[in-house]
Amino acid sequence: MARIFSGIQPSGELHIGNYLGAVKNWVELQEKHECFICVVDYHAITQSYDIAAFEGRTHDMALGLMAAGIDPTRCVLFVQSHVAHHTELAWIFNTVTPIGELERMTQFKDKSRRQESILAGLLNYPVLQAADVLLYKADLVPVGEDQVQHVELMREIVRKWNARYSEGFFPEPQALVGSGKRIKGLDGQAKMSKSLDNAIGILDEPDEIWKRLRPAPTDPARVKRTDPGTPEKCNLYDLHQQFSSLPVVEDVAEKCRTAGWGCIDCKRVLADNMAEAFAPMRARAAELRAAPELVRDALAAGAGKARRVAEETMTGVRAHMGLMPAKSIASVT
Ligand code: TRP
Repeated sequence: MARIFSGIQPSGELHIGNYLGAVKNWVELQEKHECFICVVDYHAITQSYDIAAFEGRTHDMALGLMAAGIDPTRCVLFVQSHVAHHTELAWIFNTVTPIGELERMTQFKDKSRRQESILAGLLNYPVLQAADVLLYKADLVPVGEDQVQHVELMREIVRKWNARYSEGFFPEPQALVGSGKRIKGLDGQAKMSKSLDNAIGILDEPDEIWKRLRPAPTDPARVKRTDPGTPEKCNLYDLHQQFSSLPVVEDVAEKCRTAGWGCIDCKRVLADNMAEAFAPMRARAAELRAAPELVRDALAAGAGKARRVAEETMTGVRAHMGLMPAKSIASVT
């Protein structure tokens, strides 16, 4: 049984992109493996965020994960800042990580371009990510394509730490890139993201799904209802492939190519199928909202389980590094 670790930022709601790109895969993996799923709030604070809304977003992300099928009795679901060892190991990894490697990271380059001053936390983001995974000595890291570079860096950090302190102590984790197609935003441009306002949440009500889908751009060749289109050039056709049955997908393609229907008809079918696909999750979310202690208790139990594993790893790390063990207060007095 492999041990798996993955993390997701507390953006509040899970959207279709997160779900198809990562979370759906985690739900399957938890059946066969030991999974650690972490809401990474310490990663989120490397960019500006809404302080007043932050706790609620963290809670809502955990709720969304549980509604989507992450089962906290099967896997360890927790919030990163509840287990202080993450930042402790990140500090240690900072001492073996070359700055040049951090500066090469695509995500760092993208994010720092949009910032007037570059803060150390943004540069060191992948070091904390390495600590997340290695605290639990996880073998596999299911992530989207955009995180593969961070996992590569993680392996480099492991090689450096192991070489210096204890050969074989940490495993070199492997990225597990889901087979799920990368989901573009409704604008058809960038990847789906809440902050770009091009997302559909998995917990959105059917009328909200429709409201968001309706204005979404389709194949630009279909200016008029009678213009035939090319399904492969339409972002919404990709979504049909995720949410509609094979015969429906074939029918959709046919009606697009022959201008047998308008884009709005096509969107209506998609909206209905999406709403139906997520109906069980909306129902579960409603139950969890009605009893918020279910989420809080699950996270508390998850943090407890995570802490026990993390403490064991850190005991080994400290010993191999020659750090002086703390005497317990009891034996000093
Ligand atoms: N950086 C990841 C992302 O933006 C989130 C993340 C943080 C993560 N720690 C992790 C993913 C550890 C996998 C493993 O998607």
